[in-house]
Amino acid sequence: MAPPASEEDLAHLLAKVPLFSSLDKRHLKTIARSGVERSFAAGQSIVKQGDEGVGFYLVLEGQVAVPRANQVLAPIGPGQFFGEMALFDKQPRTADVVAKVPSHCLVLSSWEFWGSVSSQPEVLRELMQVVVRRLRASAPQALTE
Ligand code: CMP
Repeated sequence: MAPPASEEDLAHLLAKVPLFSSLDKRHLKTIARSGVERSFAAGQSIVKQGDEGVGFYLVLEGQVAVPRANQVLAPIGPGQFFGEMALFDKQPRTADVVAKVPSHCLVLSSWEFWGSVSSQPEVLRELMQVVVRRLRASAPQALTE
C-alpha cells in the first residue's frame, strides 16, 4: 500500500481498508481531507504508554509493533490501525507503539475520528471486533477470570 499522492487517491485507498469499507465516498473523502500523513523511521517511537491519547493511526505503509516484556504481539501493518483504545475511554495510552520498519500513517485527531465514525455502526462494530480480537490474543486469561 504505497503512500497516496492526492486526497482522491487517499479516499480510494481508504475504501480498501476493512475498517472503512462500509463508508460511502463522501465520508471517505472527509477522512482523507481531515487526516494528516506522518512518516516514521525504523525504530522510532510513535505512541508512548501513559501519554495522553490524541490521535488514531491508520498504517498506510510499513509495519509497527506493540512491544511487551514477555510477549510477542502480532505486528500492525498496512490497512490496520492503532491508538484507538485511549480514544475510546479517554484514558492514557495502554502501550508503546514503535515503527518496526520505515512506516507511513494517516493520523486522525480524536475529534476528527469521532466526528467521522460515531454515526457509522459498521465502523464501530469493526473497531470493536479488532479490539476484542487483540484482547483475546494478548490476555485470554482476562476474559475467563
Ligand atoms: P492506545 O492505548 O490508544 O495506544 C497504544 C495502542 O497499542 C492501543 O491504543 C492499541 O491500538 C495498541 N495495543 C494495545 N494493546 C494491544 C494488544 N494487546 N494487541 C494489539 N495492539 C494493542
